[in-house]
Amino acid sequence: MSDLRSTGRTPVSVIGTGLMGSALARTFLTAGHPTTVWNRTPGRTGALVAEGARDAAGASEAITASGLVIVCVRDYDAVHDVLDPARTALTGRVLVNLTSGSSEQARAMARWATESHATYLDGAIMQTPPHVGARETAILYSGEESAFTVHRDALMELGGASTYLGTDAGIASLYDVALLGIMWGTLNSFMHAVALVGSANVDATTFLPFATAFHAATGSFMAKYAHDIDVGEFVAEDASLETHLPPVEHLLEESRALGIDAAIPSFTRALLHEAMTAGHAKDSYARIVDHFRPAR
Ligand SMILES: NC(=O)c1ccc[n+]([C@@H]2O[C@H](COP(=O)([O-])OP(=O)(O)OC[C@H]3O[C@@H](n4cnc5c(N)ncnc54)[C@H](OP(=O)(O)O)[C@@H]3O)[C@@H](O)[C@H]2O)c1
Repeated sequence: MSDLRSTGRTPVSVIGTGLMGSALARTFLTAGHPTTVWNRTPGRTGALVAEGARDAAGASEAITASGLVIVCVRDYDAVHDVLDPARTALTGRVLVNLTSGSSEQARAMARWATESHATYLDGAIMQTPPHVGARETAILYSGEESAFTVHRDALMELGGASTYLGTDAGIASLYDVALLGIMWGTLNSFMHAVALVGSANVDATTFLPFATAFHAATGSFMAKYAHDIDVGEFVAEDASLETHLPPVEHLLEESRALGIDAAIPSFTRALLHEAMTAGHAKDSYARIVDHFRPAR
């Protein structure tokens, strides 16, 4: 193993060496950071140690080893299981929590870290472990700006498209769930579409290029709709809600006729009816945002 302090790179500790924690630690090692690891279950750090990581005897030792401490475990209960007994070691450390959770959990963790005299940054990893370290990989960070600024170079090793979103520690987690919602909505619609064309013996792979091209086109609509929503003006330059309604009904009827689950087009039709009943038939599709906002 090379001298841990000889590389000139920030020493980093990674707590939790499951699939994601291992990918994070491996990326730091590859980039030349002296890397200390600790995992609750012994024996899950062996591969990383063989690659040059130092194995800490406990969480406190891992925290003490580096100014930059990354924690990536199953959930926030696990974060507390690990960090509560090691709390005193956190004084003066930068704690970057890459464990998934809600925005409120992140904010509570930030308060806990501040009370523990640590500088706290929360993060949401928007990729799977094999993509950690790639230039296109995004990790969203929020919390104490100094933590991101001071450790920017090390954190950007984990994902070259990473972004700092602001001082509210919860905002990265909020973006995370919002983006995952887009993912599931898109994937569910893809599955529905594949079932539709499958009724005509078109396989998913044959349909795929049409799906990806139309998905890209749909993505391009979002810029206009984001503008409409932000200025509160819903001028239909492409298609009004009343123009959307007939094709949605065709999708609904086709689904039902083929015995394919019609929940997605039913929901879309209900959204259109609601907005049109409220007098917005001539508006752009962006008007549908009203349905999702909390009642005032
Ligand atoms: N995998 C992904 O694609 C992905 C993508 C984005 C975000 N994430 C997030 O990254 C985090 C880790 O995911 P993962 O894929 O690495 O999961 P994983 O492979 O199942 O690893 C879970 C890790 O959490 C530890 N852990 C669980 N409960 C614990 C407890 N009570 N006390 C101490 N350690 C505990 C495990 O330690 P033991 O070995 O001792 O069980 C292990 O190190 C999660 O919050 C996940 O949502 C994952």
